[in-house]
Amino acid sequence: MEIKQIDARGGWDNLNYVVIGKGGECLVIDPLDIDQIDKVIREYRVKVKAVINTHGHLDHIQGNLEASQKFDAPIWAHPLAKQWGTKVDHYLQDREMIDLAGEADGVEVLHTPGHTMDHLSLLVTRGPDSWALICGDTLFNAGVGNCHNGGDPAVLYDTIQKIVVPLDDKVEVLPGHNYLVSNLSFTLSLEPGNMAAQQLLEQGDDQLVSNIGLERKINLFLRQAPLKFPDGEQLDGQELFLRLREQRNRW
Ligand SMILES: [Fe+2]
Repeated sequence: MEIKQIDARGGWDNLNYVVIGKGGECLVIDPLDIDQIDKVIREYRVKVKAVINTHGHLDHIQGNLEASQKFDAPIWAHPLAKQWGTKVDHYLQDREMIDLAGEADGVEVLHTPGHTMDHLSLLVTRGPDSWALICGDTLFNAGVGNCHNGGDPAVLYDTIQKIVVPLDDKVEVLPGHNYLVSNLSFTLSLEPGNMAAQQLLEQGDDQLVSNIGLERKINLFLRQAPLKFPDGEQLDGQELFLRLREQRNRW
């Protein structure tokens, strides 16, 4: 199994993914930059088994029909994606395993609501180990998705605690956007002594692939310990998460 990350040229900093199995099938996630995706598919000479949307926001589904027609592939999404009224050929259930022909490694569907209620993530496994989380707008490098358009921050908190926090440190984080630099600046605004965040910021925005272990250091939304705010208030748990989300909205 291989995962190709594509920095889409669409003006929204979107990241598209192609999950390539050894047996000649692949999955296309949140297609936007169809030309770059097509290049990968030609290079690897694979057939697209499905186009999968992490959620129904426009920048994640805009390339659906073009990709579906060009690659002769169905569109898959979570059942709650019905709310967006767009074409979906098959609905994926929480904990469903997706098989790619001839591929021993697995792709597991995880319902990860909060940014939107239909949001799903894909946990790619290698043998018995979790390897990568394709997480759309649920989890970003050093941040999480906003909840402005069909979401709920309390639900997102539950998703982060139940799905993301228990993951192994080495699991790669493959988000739907690159907001690394602004998110690191947010972390440093509340934790000026965060050396891991400072180092990454100095490297610029080339570091797109982090892992859960690094996120635990630089992503305040994964924090399990209390955090003291500049106004003196100290919060933890859901209260901390909700205040961070609210503060990030205005930051
Ligand atoms: Fe989104």
